[in-house]
Amino acid sequence: MKIAVLVSGGGTNLQAIIDSIDNGHLTNVSIEVVIASNANAFALERAKNHGIASLVITRKAYETMEAYDEAMLGAITSSGAELVVMAGFLSLLGPKVVQKYANRILNIHPALIPSFCGKGMYGIRPHEAVLARGVKVSGATVHLVNEFYDEGPILLQKAVDVLPNDTPETLQKRIMKECEQVILPQAIQCMADNKVVIENNLAKIVD
Ligand code: GAR
Repeated sequence: MKIAVLVSGGGTNLQAIIDSIDNGHLTNVSIEVVIASNANAFALERAKNHGIASLVITRKAYETMEAYDEAMLGAITSSGAELVVMAGFLSLLGPKVVQKYANRILNIHPALIPSFCGKGMYGIRPHEAVLARGVKVSGATVHLVNEFYDEGPILLQKAVDVLPNDTPETLQKRIMKECEQVILPQAIQCMADNKVVIENNLAKIVD
């Protein structure tokens, strides 16, 4: 399955996908393009180092959401991608992309949805909120993307304990390594193997 990976930052999730393809844990998947929401994303270096085509599409380069949406749609469709993977992508996708790739867009969120998600909950913020609330487990969620923030069908989740001495940074690091980088490649494999059935905003993995 051909995929487009959308990034905004360090690209550790992108790296996990690249490594899973290289070491044979992720099969029948090829990254056709990496699209970054800003030119400084280190994820672009990772794409370059692996000979993967990349481009930058920033929201602010376009006067309207419609124009941005069209540009993003054009870039994704011309790559030939059948699946879009938001791997730490912090911009909002426009309605045309979301409709054209309905049930074909994955997002990784650094918390256990429906907790600590929604508008403004990205990057380090969910981890700060988790510690402020004193919850004892957190983790990551891969879900399908619809037009509402973090509300599409949940595909996979993985949890870790929140430890007494955790800081937002230590918790973030552990969740990235032990949850995100594990379940994102797994979710892509499920999609590539055509094992995901979606009904009534619920995703089921079938054999
Ligand atoms: C990851 O923790 C990802 O879950 C989060 O941004 C980070 C990107 O890291 N995404 C969100 O907060 C989306 N709401 P990476 O660039 O190293 O993969």
